[in-house]
Amino acid sequence: MISHKPTTDFTHPIIRSYSRRKILKLAGAGALAYTGSLATACSSRSSSSTKDVPIKIGVLLPYSGIYATLGDSISAGLEMYLDQSGYRAGGRNVQIVAEDTEMKPDIAQQKARKLIEQDKVDLVAGIVSTGVLYGLREYFHNNKKLLICANAGGNKISRDMKSPYIWRSSFSNWQPNWPLGLWAYHNVGNKVFMSAPDYGAGHNMVDAFAHSFQSAGGTILGKQFTPFPSMGDPAPFITEIRKSNPSMVFCFYSGSAAVAFVKAYDEFGLSKDIPLVCSGFAVEEDVLPAQGSAALGAISGLHWALLLENETNRRFIAAYKDRTNVDANVFAVQGYDTGRIISHLLDEVQGDTRATSRMLELLHDVSFSSPRGPFKLDSKSQNPSQHIYVREVKEIGGKLHNVVIEDLGEFTDPGDNSLG
Ligand code: PHB
Repeated sequence: MISHKPTTDFTHPIIRSYSRRKILKLAGAGALAYTGSLATACSSRSSSSTKDVPIKIGVLLPYSGIYATLGDSISAGLEMYLDQSGYRAGGRNVQIVAEDTEMKPDIAQQKARKLIEQDKVDLVAGIVSTGVLYGLREYFHNNKKLLICANAGGNKISRDMKSPYIWRSSFSNWQPNWPLGLWAYHNVGNKVFMSAPDYGAGHNMVDAFAHSFQSAGGTILGKQFTPFPSMGDPAPFITEIRKSNPSMVFCFYSGSAAVAFVKAYDEFGLSKDIPLVCSGFAVEEDVLPAQGSAALGAISGLHWALLLENETNRRFIAAYKDRTNVDANVFAVQGYDTGRIISHLLDEVQGDTRATSRMLELLHDVSFSSPRGPFKLDSKSQNPSQHIYVREVKEIGGKLHNVVIEDLGEFTDPGDNSLG
């Protein structure tokens, strides 16, 4: 591990007020990790539209716990986008002030308050888990602060908990799973057992898959919701799955929980008999190296794949690998697109971060070519309309990757609970 000294350069583009053990490989050339003193030193500076004062983007992500690699990847993608524009937008320098939310809504609320009230950030990006997003909704809404959610897919944020101040650059939890349920009924089998962590996102993902699968004529043999964040001993859960004798298993897990589940599924001998069909996060590029051959053959639905054929993706995955030495993953894509959306807003308001109403209007018309394919923000759900791809884990050149086997077309969250 390389160690970094705190710097007194207040114009440095990235301020982290937590220590990171393993950031450096992912962080790339422009990103230095340092600790509290700098953030504290900067906190007395207030936000402003003055051209020579940097715009501050607050970042709230988990840099510890089971979703730490997600937080690291989102940061790396966001930093890569901003670095490619020289950390400039709207004619001003741009600075990131990042905080670790862990997986805890109460910690995230404290950190949000610190970023907004003490560091005076101009807007905020990040948020990985649904529980944290729901816990922050009132604060951002009441304080009229713009939040671009770069992961957490809690459906309610596109439905009954919508706020004009909260938009997503990522997905709703419904989005990859409803199309996958329909596809799986027609292509894999008609009886499913379902497994997911017992929190908002797990329930959303299971409900979406179950809705289309059942509507097509499929049978749900059973559902299990495992302890979150850590499921503990997987044996009783795997035993329950085997007993149900399904034609497939649907699961959603992510981060280190995905590694644990997929490995246990293989070690207990299920992978050779029962196809694993999952929400793409469960076998995404961040976890595949640790899952190894246990993930081979897993089918999943997601809004991106490493080997997706389009020019923006080709350039993105090459630049990311060059910068970080690891393959990109969907979380890095979401971070990168978040950087693009924020830069666009700041350019349009010429760096005047007080123009919140104008930025909110502009969000309705955002569209561009993302590494994931065509991307546009949908006004009703305040969430992207995007293609969903069916992928299969295959060995390519001695490494495991998700290969696209079908493009299911563009999907938009319904904005209500009519489809699960
Ligand atoms: C969520 O909590 O909404 C969530 C977390 C991790 C994922 C996807 C969704 O990979």
